[in-house]
Amino acid sequence: CGIVGYIGKNNTKEILLDGLRELEYRGYDSAGIAVLSDGEFNNFKAVGKLVNLEEKTKDFKTEHFAVGIGHTRWATHGKPTELNAHPHLGECSYVVHNGIIENYAELKKELEAEGVNFLSQTDTEVIVHQFEKNLKTASSEFEAFETTISQLQGAYAILLVTKSKEDTIFFAKLGSPMLVGKNKDHEKYFASSDTPLIGHCDDVNYFDDGDYGYVTPDEIKIFNKNKEEKQPHFTKLPTNKLSAQKDGYRFFMEKEIYEQSNVITDTLLGRLGTDDIIFEELDPELFNGINEIKLCACGTSYHAALSASYLFERYARVKTSVEIASEFRYREPIMTKDTLFVVISQSGETADTLETLKMAKNAGLKTLTICNVDNSSMVRLSDATILTRAGVEKGVASTKAFATQVTIFWMLSLHLAKLRSTMDNGEIIKQIELIRQIPGAVKVRDEIHEKIKRLSKRYLHGHGFFFIGRDIFYPLALEGALKLKEISYLHAEGYPSGEMKHGPIALADPELFTIALLPEHMLYEKSKSNVEELSARDSTICAISPLQFEKADDFIATKNHESYMLEFFEMMVVVQLLSLEVSIRLGNDVDMPRNLAKSVTVE
Ligand code: G6P
Repeated sequence: CGIVGYIGKNNTKEILLDGLRELEYRGYDSAGIAVLSDGEFNNFKAVGKLVNLEEKTKDFKTEHFAVGIGHTRWATHGKPTELNAHPHLGECSYVVHNGIIENYAELKKELEAEGVNFLSQTDTEVIVHQFEKNLKTASSEFEAFETTISQLQGAYAILLVTKSKEDTIFFAKLGSPMLVGKNKDHEKYFASSDTPLIGHCDDVNYFDDGDYGYVTPDEIKIFNKNKEEKQPHFTKLPTNKLSAQKDGYRFFMEKEIYEQSNVITDTLLGRLGTDDIIFEELDPELFNGINEIKLCACGTSYHAALSASYLFERYARVKTSVEIASEFRYREPIMTKDTLFVVISQSGETADTLETLKMAKNAGLKTLTICNVDNSSMVRLSDATILTRAGVEKGVASTKAFATQVTIFWMLSLHLAKLRSTMDNGEIIKQIELIRQIPGAVKVRDEIHEKIKRLSKRYLHGHGFFFIGRDIFYPLALEGALKLKEISYLHAEGYPSGEMKHGPIALADPELFTIALLPEHMLYEKSKSNVEELSARDSTICAISPLQFEKADDFIATKNHESYMLEFFEMMVVVQLLSLEVSIRLGNDVDMPRNLAKSVTVE
C-alpha cells in the first residue's frame, strides 16, 4: 500500500493524487483521499487503478488551505471494494493506514458492543473508532491519539485527521515506512516512500519505529516509543525525480529489460580493481571472524540469493545458506555470531525480510543489506549496505533489480575469495575481465527479441511449464518460472534438470512445455541427457543454448561466451523476454499484474 498526506495552501487534491501516482506500484486494488478544508471533509474513493479516483474527483477543487490524506491499497483484510478502500471514516475523523493491526478483531468486538457501527471489513477501521472513543474522555485530540496508538498491536504507518483540529495531521509509525517533509512555504508532506516528495520538499525526516506525533503548518512534533519528545532529524532528499517515461517501450518491464546493460555498468562503476573488487562502502572488519553466510529474502530477491550461494561456496569456499524470509522468521533458527547475515531486497521495505534483519541484529549478528533503495528501512537498520544502483524499477515483475543483485553477488564472491585466499590472483583477474563483459551479455539483440516474439504464440496454453537448469541455472530456472507466473498467470515451475525424473516427468506430454537452460560451460552433457529424457516422453521442448540441439521443438540460440556466468546473464534476458511476450499476447497488464504489489510491506 502507499500513503500520502499534505498540509498547505496549494492544490491539495492534485498534490495527493500526484503522490499516489508515484506510489501506485505498491498496490492498486483501490484508492482514496480525504480533504479537510473550511471545517468540511470531502472524501472520495474508487476501486481499481488511480484513474478511477481521478475521474471521481475531477469536479472537486481545493483552492484554500487544506489538510489531506490519501491511500492506494493492496488488500490484506477485506476484499478490494469501495467500502474497504481508505481513508476510513469515524464520526468526525479519517484515517489511512499501511500494515496490519493484529488485535483488530478484539478491539472491533469491544467497540461493536458499545454500539459502534463498522462499515468495512478492514483492520484499519478500528483505528478511527478507537480514536473517537478515546476522544470522549481525553483532554486533547493528541492525548486521544497517543492512547489509541498504545492500544494497537501490529505494524503500521498511520495518518489521521479530525475535524476539531483543522490544521493538523496525526501520525504513527511502527514497522511500515513513512517520512515527513517540509519546505519554506510551510507546506508539509507525508508519504510512505520518498519519491512523492522529490521536487516538493527541501528537508525530510524518516520516522523511526515507535515514532508518533502531529504536524501543523508550523511544527513537527515527534515522540518516541517511551513517549519522550524527540527532535526531527532532517536530511536532504537524495536524487532528482527520475524520468518515469516509458521511452517508447510498450511497458516499463520491457524498458527495464533493455536498461539492464546500462544499469549494470553503473553497478560496476568504481568497483573493479585490477586484481580485486573494491567495495568502498564495506568496512574490512565486517568479514572478520565470519565462518558462514546466511542470505535471506523474498520473491525474486530470494532467487538472487540462491544464485549467490553457488558463487560464495565455489569461489570463496565459505559455507552459505539461503532462507525464505517468511519461513525463517517463525522457525526458531539457530543464529551464531560467526555468521554474516545478508538480506537482499529491491525495495528495502519488504516486511518479512526486514523482520529477519531485526532478528539477526537482536541476536548480535553482523548484518549486510544488498538493496536498490538508499535510505530504505533495511539500509538504515543494517551494519553495512551495498547499493545495487538499478534505478527506479516500476514493473512489478522485477528484472533489472535481479540482474544487478546477481552482479553484486558475483563481485562479492570474488572479494571474499581474495580476502580468504581461496583463488589465486590470476584467476581473480580473469574473473574481473569476465565481469566487465556482463553489460555486453545482457544487451538485447534484435534478432533474439524477434525470435522470442514469434515463438511466444506457441506458448499461450498447455497444462504447465517447467523451467529446468542445473547448478546456478537452477535458481535462474526458478526465476524464469516466477516471471512467467507473475505476468502471464500460466502455471510454471522451476526445477533442477536432474530431479525431473524423480516425479515431474510423470506430467510429460505434448502439452507440457519444458524451457530448458542448456549452457555450454556448465554441465552441458548432463543437462542435455535430462532434456532428452523429457523429449522421449513427448514433452514440448524449448531449448535455450549456444549449441544446436536437434531434440528441441523450439530453439533459442544464445551467444558463445567464455564463462557460464555470462551465459547465465544472457539466458536471464531470454527468460524475461519470453514471459514479457507471452503476457503481451495474452493481453495482460504487464506492469501491474493482478493480485501483486511491487513492495509488500505487510507480513
Ligand atoms: C514482491 C514483488 C516481487 C519481489 C518481492 C521482494 O512480491 O512483487 O517482485 O521480488 O516482493 O521484494 P524486495 O523489494 O524485497 O526485493
